[in-house]
Amino acid sequence: LNGKATARANTNIALVKYWGKRDAALNLPAVGSLSLTLEGLSTRTSVAFDGKAAADSLLLNGEPADPRALGRIARFLDLVRARAGIKEHARVESANDFPTAAGLASSASAFAALALAATRAAGLSLDDRELSVLARRGSGSAARSIFGGFAEMQRGQRADGEDSFATPIASDWDIRLVIAATVTGPKSTLSTDGMRHTAETSPYYDAWVRMSEADLKTARDAIARHDLEALGTVTEASCLSMHASAMAARPAVVYFHGATIEGWRIIQELRKSGIPAWFTCDAGPHVKALTVAKHASEVEQALARLGRTWICKPGPRAEVLEVNA
Ligand code: PMV
Repeated sequence: LNGKATARANTNIALVKYWGKRDAALNLPAVGSLSLTLEGLSTRTSVAFDGKAAADSLLLNGEPADPRALGRIARFLDLVRARAGIKEHARVESANDFPTAAGLASSASAFAALALAATRAAGLSLDDRELSVLARRGSGSAARSIFGGFAEMQRGQRADGEDSFATPIASDWDIRLVIAATVTGPKSTLSTDGMRHTAETSPYYDAWVRMSEADLKTARDAIARHDLEALGTVTEASCLSMHASAMAARPAVVYFHGATIEGWRIIQELRKSGIPAWFTCDAGPHVKALTVAKHASEVEQALARLGRTWICKPGPRAEVLEVNA
């Protein structure tokens, strides 16, 4: 087999967060989550299986990847090889259309694009649900990047994880997410490590898990009504609860920097002055604000002193760009 395929997937930001696993080996989440896929921040990945290659290889933004990243990709390719019944190694080339140095590079777009490119190159044609289940094995958030716009990740109940996948939430709501990349600083705790440590040591972890069902319902209902205040309020609460559970771990897992808190305060001030904006933040220091098209420039201007900014519209689903299998 010498199949080759190229796919593109956009990153997504969780409004109701995923934090904690119910099964580490299968990468099953302890909670469901709900996200917005973003326009303009995407990963393009090609996978070429090659009967003559002695091992898998990975070029990231044109540079050979470090062994850790390569190992993670090779283990993911093993899943695809097992499913397709093939043995060939692959050459993988992956590039982001946004500056990786800004620290926004996301495993979500990366594993969604890889799941699509690798399966098509291997001659497989998975449906969306199967793709989402597979992408989840690479990274929990990647399961959501198979879809455009709003998507909800199901926690699922089954031990084999076949009911743990994302589904799209149909909506024509033209919402905006403003991103401010703050400091680049030292590498933060990887999400998998931060989640494990939180689950093992934080007295707030159980409370965090208990809240998630209600937060998901609130967010779903708010999206159906186009109720920005309700969606913003639950977005901010879910983010802060997630970080509170991590900060209460022993020792603490802290992703906030000074600039993160400053961004959060700027967003609170905007709200006091009548501009609708709500804060969220992931396993890193960058600030994200949920708002609407009409106010996106004002929000961006207010956050611009933190660093480089982007105004993101809802983005498209993952797609195959080229296939030669
Ligand atoms: O998918 P992972 O393992 O990169 O974890 C994502 C964790 C958060 O970004 C903090 C939350 C989320 O739901 O995306």
